[in-house]
Formats: sequence, C-alpha cells, structure tokens
Amino acid sequence: MPAAQLYAALIDALPDPILVVAGFEAEDLTARRYILANAAAREMLRITAEEGMLLSAVRDPVVLTTVDAALFDETDAEGAYETTGAQTRSLRVRARWLGFGHDGARLALLTFHDETEVRRVERTRVDFLANASHELRTPLASLSGFIETLRGHARDDVAARDKFLGIMQAQADRMARLIADLTSLSRIELDEHVPPRGVVDLVMVVGEVVEAASPLGAQRRVKLDWRSCAGASMTVRGERDQIVQVVQNLLDNAIKYSPDNASVRIELQSGLSDLAAAASQEGVPRLSLVAPDPSQETYAALRVTDLGPGIARQNLPRLSERFYRVDGQKSGARSGTGLGLAIVKHIMNRHRGGLVVASAEGEGSTFTAYFPMAHAPEGVVKAS
Ligand SMILES: Nc1ncnc2c1ncn2[C@@H]1O[C@H](COP(=O)(O)OP(=O)(O)OP(=O)(O)O)[C@@H](O)[C@H]1O
Ligand SMILES: [Mg+2]
Repeated sequence: MPAAQLYAALIDALPDPILVVAGFEAEDLTARRYILANAAAREMLRITAEEGMLLSAVRDPVVLTTVDAALFDETDAEGAYETTGAQTRSLRVRARWLGFGHDGARLALLTFHDETEVRRVERTRVDFLANASHELRTPLASLSGFIETLRGHARDDVAARDKFLGIMQAQADRMARLIADLTSLSRIELDEHVPPRGVVDLVMVVGEVVEAASPLGAQRRVKLDWRSCAGASMTVRGERDQIVQVVQNLLDNAIKYSPDNASVRIELQSGLSDLAAAASQEGVPRLSLVAPDPSQETYAALRVTDLGPGIARQNLPRLSERFYRVDGQKSGARSGTGLGLAIVKHIMNRHRGGLVVASAEGEGSTFTAYFPMAHAPEGVVKAS
C-alpha cells in the first residue's frame, strides 16, 4: 500500500472522530469548511461527504468557539459539551492549529472524545460515597445524641439509661452491618472476574441458611416453607460463603417484606437447561437482573417466593443498584440499606449465574438465582 493511501486508511480507521477544518476570515463563519472527516466523525455527525460547510456538520457553540481559537489565535483549545438527542452523550473536543493550506486557508485539527462512560463512573462513585456517608451519619448522630443525654439529664435515671443503651446498641449494630456489607461488596467486586473454584452442595447450604433464619422468621411471624429434597444433593460450582450470602439476602428480603402469618416458599430445582422457558410465567412482569452465561448448559435454581407487597414494574430494573430502596419502604421494621441485592448481583455475576425477579404490586415477589451445576445430573429435564 503506498504511503498516502496508508495514511488515509489509518485516519479513517481511528476510533475517535477527527475533522480537519479550514477557514479564511474570522468574521466569515459560513466560509469555514471541514475538508477531512474520518469514518467515526461522519458517523457521529451524521454526514456523508468528507468535505462540506462546517455549520452543516457542527452547530454546538462550544465546538465552534474551540475551532476558532485554534484557527485564528493559532493555539490549542478544548471544550466539553453534551449532545442532545435520543441519548445524551458527554464529549470533549480538542482543536489544534495546523498551519496554512496551499490555498492560504488556516487549518485546524479537531478531535472528539466520548467521555460519557467516564462521567457515568465518576457520578456513580460520587453518589456511592455520598450514600455511604449518609447511611453512616444517621446512626452516628443518634449515638452522639444519646451519649449527650446520658451525660446530662438522664445521668441518674436508671430506667432511661437502660432504654437508651439498648437503642445505642442497635445503632452501633446497624453501623457494623453497613460496614460489613460495604467491605463485602468491595471484596466481591475486586474478584468478580476470577471464577470461583469450589463445588458446593446447594441443598445443604440452603438448609443451613433456612435453619439459621428461622428465629427471625418466628420473630416476624413468617413461616418458612422449605421443602428439602431429603437425601438429594445438588452440586454447583461456586464459593460457599458467597452462595450463603445470596441465599441469606434473598431470604432476608422475603421475610422482611412478608405480611404477618404469611409463608415464604423456598424451592430448589436442578438440571435446568432452558432458562428462557424457565423464565416464562404468565401474567407477572419479570426481569433478568443478571443474565446467565449462554455457554453454560445446566443450572440449579433457587427460588424464593413471598406474599409481600410486590414491586412495581418500573422499579424492577433498579433493584440491584447499590443503596436503592423502593420509595415508601424506608422505615419501620423494613429498614435496610439497599446493599443486599447489589451484593447478590455481583456474586451471581462472578458465578456466571443468573438472577431473575418476577413481581407485581400486591402480588408478592419471586427471586430466582441460577447457579451453573458442577456436573449435569442424569436425565436433564427442561424447565416447565
Ligand atoms: N421480596 C421483596 N419484596 C418487596 N420488595 C423487595 C423485596 N426484595 C427487595 N425489595 C425492594 O428492593 C430494595 C432493595 O433490596 P436490598 O436487599 O438490596 O436492600 P434492603 O433489603 O433494603 O437492605 P439490605 O439488604 O442492605 O439490608 C428493598 O429496599 C425493597 O424496596
Ligand atoms: Mg435486603
């Protein structure tokens, strides 16, 4: 390939949009032209020609000012702007003075860089810190308040002191739980790309977690309906502690959101090979929060069903966001920090599993976690 052709191909193949702009007089805006636009630029600016009037390709004032600084002040310039349209994107534009063309035109190079993803990550991080501090500040403020009271007028009031110490203990526990969840979340995220190595018997793990949760169930007057497949074992690939966390969180939510005297059903099913079929259940909206790896062949499913308030369809996609809680469920016995399902999501991602929620307002919820099986059992059954 001759050098000129190679350069042309190279510029066209660059992933970031590039324009070369030519201009003569600062006052004559309509005379500014782009004289080269690579494929990425043509796609982003929705232009077909490689050459044309600049204003026909770009109208954003930030871009135009940046171009002019390079063209007429002969300096490098840059600016950030957002495109409007179906999807808002954050872009950074940089302009460099190139010199004079053979026709005496002033030339500048314009490059665009999409910063939407970087901005999104940055925003998530800022939100995360704000949320985490807020969640810690509330119990901390309460603790400080009670310490002050205990040092002041409640100093000699034995009954009040006992009551306040009880509340303080609960607040301290809440802070400890929050910190444990945050630590666990960051650890899981760190090794999310390292596949788990162990093999876990799901029947045993679920049995243990259900047993451990039964005092909480009794306290909340919720019956745990666990049909242990006695004698059966169901081995899945995974890390035991993390699978325990998944079961615990799903069960904890189901108990927390159940009305009095209702029961929570916990079921296991093995040898599922067609998750799309397993997922179709009439009438109830459902959403996959973690999509299972399509290359896996058989799954074991853990299904936790409650008769609680259910979740409105528009809130389903946000359930696994950190700190997300459905409005109106933020107080009383249903308190929580909104980290549980975020933890579950990351664990299921790491396990190349799936997580599906099916729920409708007033009709309870079913959360199903799919774990890749360690080996397919005999007579694989299709999900019904
Ligand atoms: N079984 C359920 N029924 C109704 N709503 C639910 C159920 N499970 C989760 N939700 C909703 O999803 C939100 C997020 O759940 P998640 O487990 O992440 O947080 P949490 O239970 O509020 O707090 P945490 O688990 O950190 O103690 C909950 O606040 C609740 O609004
Ligand atoms: Mg929870």
